[in-house]
Amino acid sequence: MARIAVVGCGHVGLVAAGAFASLGHDVLAIDIDADRVRMVREGRSPIYEPGLEELLQRALEAGRLTVHEGFPASLDSEFVFLAVGTPASTGGASDLRAVRDAVSSLVPALHPDAVIVNKSTVPIGTGNIIAQIAKRAGADSVSVVSNPEFLQEGTAVHNFLEPDRIVLGSDDPGATARVAALYERVDAPILETDLRTAEMIKYASNAFLATKVSFINEMASICEAVGADISVVAEGMGQDARIGSQFLRAGIGWGGSCFPKDVAALEHTASTFGAHPQLLRAVIEINREQRRRILQKARAVLGTLESRRIVVLGAAFKPNTDDIRESPALEVADLLRLGGASVVVHDPHVPTSVIQREFPSLEVERDLLAAAAGADAIVLATEWPEFRDAPWSEMAAAMRTPLLLDGRNFLDGQQLRDAGFTYRGIGRPAQEGPAADATTDEAELAQGLVMVGRE
Ligand code: UDX
Repeated sequence: MARIAVVGCGHVGLVAAGAFASLGHDVLAIDIDADRVRMVREGRSPIYEPGLEELLQRALEAGRLTVHEGFPASLDSEFVFLAVGTPASTGGASDLRAVRDAVSSLVPALHPDAVIVNKSTVPIGTGNIIAQIAKRAGADSVSVVSNPEFLQEGTAVHNFLEPDRIVLGSDDPGATARVAALYERVDAPILETDLRTAEMIKYASNAFLATKVSFINEMASICEAVGADISVVAEGMGQDARIGSQFLRAGIGWGGSCFPKDVAALEHTASTFGAHPQLLRAVIEINREQRRRILQKARAVLGTLESRRIVVLGAAFKPNTDDIRESPALEVADLLRLGGASVVVHDPHVPTSVIQREFPSLEVERDLLAAAAGADAIVLATEWPEFRDAPWSEMAAAMRTPLLLDGRNFLDGQQLRDAGFTYRGIGRPAQEGPAADATTDEAELAQGLVMVGRE
C-alpha cells in the first residue's frame, strides 16, 4: 500500500483522499484553510456530497487518513495528488495560482521518488509547466502524471471507486505504471497516454457533454417552432445506442463548477493556439440563450415583467447538491430581476445566506405557499424531487396569475393544468388555446416546401 498526499480538501481532493484510504492507502490530506482542516479532522465534510462524510470517518477511524494545515516542511509521500482549485479568470483563462503555489511550496519537501499527479482541471500544457516549476524549485527528476477526474457532484464517491475509465498521462511510463498500481483494486480500464492528451481528454469530455445538452436545447427550440415534443424526441434519439440517452434533458441549460469554466477554458486555449473553436462558441451561446428563453416565455403570457412577482423554484445548479456556482436557476432569477420583475427564490436545501451572499437583490422564501402568494408566475429552474409533490392546487389558487414555466420539463403538464395552471415547458407543445404555439398551417408548410425545393 502506498503513501499518498492529496493537496486541496475541496470536492475532488476530499473524495480522492477518502477513496484512496478506502482502497487501503495511507493518505495525508493537505489544505491551507484552517476551518476546512479542522472539520475534516473531526470527520465532518465541509461540502455536501452523499457518502463522503462516512468515507472520511471510516478512513480516520482506520488511521489511514491524517489532515495537515498548510504545506508541510517534509513529506514522505510517494505520490502527491494536486486537487486545488483552478477558477476561471478573465477571458475564460484558468487561474493557475493555486497549482503553482502548491508545487513550488511542496517541491523542497518532496520524497526523492515522489510522483506529482495532477487531478485539478488545468489548461493543456500545464503538466509540463508543473514539471518546469518543480525543476526550478530544485526537483530535477520529479515525474508528473495527469490523472483527470470525472466526478459528478452527487455521485462523486461512486464515480471515483467505480469509474468508466481511468486516464493516466505522462511522459514517464515508469511513473504511469506506479500511479496505475494505486488503482489496482478498482475495476476499470486504464487508458495510458501522454500528458497533453490526458489533459485534453478531460476538456473534450466535458465539452462534449455540454454540447450534447446545448444540442438538445437547440432541438427543443425547433420542436417549439414545428409543434413537436422534445421529451419524446430525446427518448427516441436516446434509444439509439450510438447516441445514448444521457445528457439529453432539455431545459434552461448547463451550469455548475465545471462545464462553464471548462468549456470557456477550452475555447480560450484553442483560440490562443490559433485554432477556431466555432462549435464551442455556439455551444456557449445556445446555453446563454436558454436562460433568455424563459424571459421570452414569461413575457409572451404576462406581456411585461415590470412589477410582476415571479417565483423561481431552485437555486442549486442541479438537484442533490447545495452548490450554486454558475447556477442556471440563479442566472434566470437575476435576468428576471433585471427585466423588471420582483423575484422570490425558493430552494429546499440551499441556505438563504448562501444565495444572498451572491445575489443580495434576490428575495428568498423558505415556505412554498408564502412564495406563491400573489405571484404572477412560477419558474421551475432546478428539478428537486420534492417539487413533484408541491401543493400545486393551493399554490395556483394563491397566485395572481397561475402561470408555470417548467424550465426543466420536470412536471406533468396535464397534472399542472388540472391544478389550475397555465403550463409551459421547454420544447413541448403548449396544448392550450387555439393552435398551440406552432404554425401548422398547411398552406405555410406547403410554401416552406416549395421554398426548400427551389434552393
Ligand atoms: C460535470 C461532469 O459530468 C463531470 O464528469 C466533471 O468531472 C465535472 O462536471 P457536474 O458539474 O457535477 O459534473 O454536473 P453534471 O451532472 O454533469 O451537470 C452539469 C449541468 O448540466 C447541470 O447544470 C445540469 O442541470 C445540466 N444538464 C445535465 C442538463 O441541463 N441536461 C442534461 O441532460 C444533463
